[in-house]
Amino acid sequence: VLCLLHCLRGSDAGERRGSLRRSDFPPGFVFGSSTSAYQVEGAATEGGRGPSVWDTHSHLPGTIVDNTTGDHACDQYHRYLEDVDLMADIGMDAYRFSISWPRIFPDGRGRVNREGVEYYNRLIDALLARGIQPWVVLYHWDLPQALQDSLGGWMNREIVSIFGEYAELCFAEFGDRVKHWGTFNEIHHITFSYPNVGCRSPSGVCGDVHRQPYVIGHHMLLSHSKAVEIYRAKFQNRQRGSIGIILDAQWYEPISDLQEDINAAERLMAFQIQWLMDPLVYGHYPAIMRNDLHDRLPTFSEDEAKAMKGSFDFIGLNHYTSHYAKNDPDGPEFSKFGVELHDARAASIYAKNGVPIGPQAGSPWLQIVPWGMGKVLERFKVMYNNPLIYITENGVDESDDQGEVPAENILQDNFRIQYHHDYLGYVIGSMRNGSNVGGYFAWSLLDNFEWQDGFSKRFGLFYVDFKNGFTRIPKSSVAWFKKLLRHPKRSN
Ligand code: NOJ
Repeated sequence: VLCLLHCLRGSDAGERRGSLRRSDFPPGFVFGSSTSAYQVEGAATEGGRGPSVWDTHSHLPGTIVDNTTGDHACDQYHRYLEDVDLMADIGMDAYRFSISWPRIFPDGRGRVNREGVEYYNRLIDALLARGIQPWVVLYHWDLPQALQDSLGGWMNREIVSIFGEYAELCFAEFGDRVKHWGTFNEIHHITFSYPNVGCRSPSGVCGDVHRQPYVIGHHMLLSHSKAVEIYRAKFQNRQRGSIGIILDAQWYEPISDLQEDINAAERLMAFQIQWLMDPLVYGHYPAIMRNDLHDRLPTFSEDEAKAMKGSFDFIGLNHYTSHYAKNDPDGPEFSKFGVELHDARAASIYAKNGVPIGPQAGSPWLQIVPWGMGKVLERFKVMYNNPLIYITENGVDESDDQGEVPAENILQDNFRIQYHHDYLGYVIGSMRNGSNVGGYFAWSLLDNFEWQDGFSKRFGLFYVDFKNGFTRIPKSSVAWFKKLLRHPKRSN
């Protein structure tokens, strides 16, 4: 293992890029790519879809850096067949996408929009016809605006049963063909990142920013366990699928050997992983957060704790980067990361003595630190009795801030090849060390609408020409994945 990790690191990694083989992974290991509805579908006002909080948010002047919206995104709603062909051509086993809740329930609940259901039926059937497994996420941030307006969205506990109704409809309509479900994508990220955009936040909540991340997170966890309860009671035996939740976790490396910095890194890791994993595994929030937050952190009743415990068949892990952590007793009150740093009394730092923790990608928050993948996987293994993990997102971007970088420059994405190669190296190393990893999904199949950053950041394996008919053009990384996936699989 040491040799493997060593060989994949550092300056010689470039020459060794071709050395990764499909047979380095166990036979059933799944390779796929990921997207989400609002980021790729477009057709925002077509097919009977209702508005989501993201439509509202992106249409407010000045909110998205390049003044764009997801109205058309990658137009996948009309081009899904082409996209399925692209995936099949690379040799991908799976496609992870999300269902747009307001496409199914334009008013959030009640009336079902059959046209929306039919769209996902067509997409699922097209995938299966090309031998690609659909992996479906129920909530990737696009709450129906109607639920925001009538209830106050995730701040209102009533949403738990409404999410249950939405989940049940999806299991009933699609579960005969969908065998992998994810309930929520990145609870940690959404609760912490958006309160500081105020009332215009996608979570849509204004008010007590010191309490709301934990209340929203609590209601999302309860909604997750509600959906799992429904799936297990009514569908799972018959449909023989599995269900999990997708968590985001970056690695925090203490910036020094001082105990206070080591503790700060521990707190930041806890605010991402233990916050959600402790309830899912033990049925209660972790003491390390309770000690800081006291009654700002809600509690589970006995029944809720019982339902929560063990409410997953797998954990999806979205991992991109690592940062240094430094003790900071006051913590920044508001930052891009909302109140998290303040509450964890820590600073998140990208460089030490002027040396960045890893090469800089397009997004300021994304430094390329392949070894962080190994650290995060190790943590899940040790802390939670080695759960089954799928890497549901891992990827890197190039900046196209003014939308004027010539396509040719972006198409030669050797740094992306290096990124996937090196991060996958640590996935292999972790598996050899006993981690139970079942698959890997690249973020993303296509350049797409990167939330606040609009189209100014390109995470795709395929370049999308948003100004000229949404043409998809393969970057070099497509050929690299293709070659990797065409290698013979291991037979045992
Ligand atoms: C995580 C999110 O799930 C996805 O929507 C986003 O585009 C990527 N990270 C890249 O920032």
